[in-house]
Amino acid sequence: MHEMTIDSTQPKPALYASVVAQTRALLEGERDLIANLANTTSLLYHSLPDLNWAGFYLLKDGELVVGPFQGKPACVRIALGKGVCGTAAARRATVIVENVHDFAGHIACDSASNSEIVVPLVRGTELLGVLDLDSPKFARFDAQDRAGLEQVVAEVLRTL
Ligand code: SME
Repeated sequence: MHEMTIDSTQPKPALYASVVAQTRALLEGERDLIANLANTTSLLYHSLPDLNWAGFYLLKDGELVVGPFQGKPACVRIALGKGVCGTAAARRATVIVENVHDFAGHIACDSASNSEIVVPLVRGTELLGVLDLDSPKFARFDAQDRAGLEQVVAEVLRTL
């Protein structure tokens, strides 16, 4: 079993340095996509504070379909351009939403969610899906989360 040794209370730069290093260690030598996405969501969910959902949506036949996640059951399919996930996917850029209730078209899967960050998974020019994190705290995610989570996604993409 992988031993998690992350202090969730440390400042974000140190926290993400640990999370990225542990993601790399956790995925080392394994190329199974579902296994790697599942373990990554568990690592994120249990090491980053104030999350109520952490998971992946994968692009299948032109729409996003829910993949491995931690949290309550979620909406299964999201069209490109719809919701925060579909917006980040269509733009191929990270989207941070400080208050999901102010985001036109936000798709509410868990009523506890108040802020959200979505990081696209892009390999070369190919969109593979998105990483989505939700928080019950308003304005939970900032540029440090973006930088850290984009590194986590880069670690996942290395294994593909
Ligand atoms: N809120 C997302 C939908 C996915 S759930 O948060 C898990 C969105 O607006 O795309």
